[in-house]
Amino acid sequence: MTRSLRWRLTLSLAAVVLLVVVSIFVSLRVILHDILAGNINEDLSAQSGQVRAQIALSDVTNASDLDSAAVATLIETSSFPVLIRDLEGDVIASSTGMPVGELELTEEERAAVLAGGVVKERVEIVGDAHQVQTSRLTIGHELVGILQVGESVEALNDVDAAVETIAVVAGGLGLVLALLAGFWIAESNLRPISRVTNVAREIEASDLSRRIAAAGEPVEVQHLADTFDAMLERLQRAFEIQRNFVLDMSHELRTPLTALRGNIDVLLLEPDLGEELSQTLVRMKGEVDRLVRLTSNLLYLAHADAGREVARAPVELDELCLEVCQQMRYLRSDVKLSLGRQEPVTVTGDRDLLKQTLINLADNALKYTPSGGSVTLSVVRRGTEAVVQVADTGVGISEEDLPKIFQRLERAESGSRTAGAGIGLFISEWIVSAHGGEIKVESRPGEGSVFTVVLPLDEVAG
Ligand SMILES: Nc1ncnc2c1ncn2[C@@H]1O[C@H](COP(=O)(O)OP(=O)(O)OP(=O)(O)O)[C@@H](O)[C@H]1O
Ligand SMILES: [Mg+2]
Repeated sequence: MTRSLRWRLTLSLAAVVLLVVVSIFVSLRVILHDILAGNINEDLSAQSGQVRAQIALSDVTNASDLDSAAVATLIETSSFPVLIRDLEGDVIASSTGMPVGELELTEEERAAVLAGGVVKERVEIVGDAHQVQTSRLTIGHELVGILQVGESVEALNDVDAAVETIAVVAGGLGLVLALLAGFWIAESNLRPISRVTNVAREIEASDLSRRIAAAGEPVEVQHLADTFDAMLERLQRAFEIQRNFVLDMSHELRTPLTALRGNIDVLLLEPDLGEELSQTLVRMKGEVDRLVRLTSNLLYLAHADAGREVARAPVELDELCLEVCQQMRYLRSDVKLSLGRQEPVTVTGDRDLLKQTLINLADNALKYTPSGGSVTLSVVRRGTEAVVQVADTGVGISEEDLPKIFQRLERAESGSRTAGAGIGLFISEWIVSAHGGEIKVESRPGEGSVFTVVLPLDEVAG
């Protein structure tokens, strides 16, 4: 998930939003807390001042007067918690709202207060949190006791808790919203990239002349698409150069090779050729035939790549089978190449291409059949279709290789690996499908193979 750009963007945005929300609420809590705590401290100072003023107005003139009934009444009836201690720290008077037992004054605190300091602390008074301020009590310049004043901090605690609750809710809500918004933003921003990827994928599968042309997409995506288009341009040119080269070379090679073959045939007609010489000539003829077949396949490969249309003329398949059989018989004297059932069948198409298909299939059959085996070419009519079969008793093709053999440059691993370029069946399949037919194969390893070509019959001749 983290390797997806979409998720990375979404999570980053959510993290930023969460950070912002948390920072805002932490600052808010600190500021509010400080303001409210400051107010409480001011109140406490004001209350301490009020107590001091009231005591000053009463008859108290020294420390021993503090124990009087007047002071006790004054303190008891106070509207806020008040406590007065003598200089030793013992309680002299306390308000009803500030039970003595709940307040403590340690020796250090007492010493600090008597030295002029103010001690502030949090304590529970009758179940309520209070802020208590302890300071010294003076009359005139005389130090007479210790004064403790308290104020409830429940309101402050309530505000703190409320801010924390709102922070958790807002953080959670913000996180969910940020995830949704982040996913939507990432999705809509990455959509142009997905579009470019899809077009690029289609181009790979179809033809190189197409371009992505991402006009109207965001600039960054346009740059990516332009770079890819430039690469396609170069690739297309390289393919065209290669195709034209193959086309030219196979053309150039075919003419002298055909002439060479004709000359060998003429030489073979000589009556007084010795046995050895004529055998050499036959072998040469076989090699030249192999070269002619290969160059023809290369030529048709270039045609297939260029998407060439096939010629449409009547072709008699039975005649073609006979020709191929006669032409190739001499290639293997140890394998019997013969004609099987031959029905007069005519299809519409390109004679040269269809002959090349039969030559390729017969060549394979002869090549992959061991000595003593046989290869049979047959052609029959089945309904509105012509069915040509090339059957052999050769090495066969394993089940795992069967789906691969029609692919360009694929050669079966099993069976005997003889010389070959691996394009014969690819070209044959292209030729057959360009004629509106299909090519199938059935094979059993060790027993042989049957290649079946099914073509639609010529409508006029049948
Ligand atoms: N009749 C057959 N018997 C056994 N294997 C076969 C037969 N026909 C084809 N094959 C297997 O299919 C593969 C592909 O055949 P294909 O004709 O395309 O290439 P090739 O014969 O190796 O080379 P070339 O391009 O010279 O024809 C062969 O390499 C071979 O392994
Ligand atoms: Mg072949």
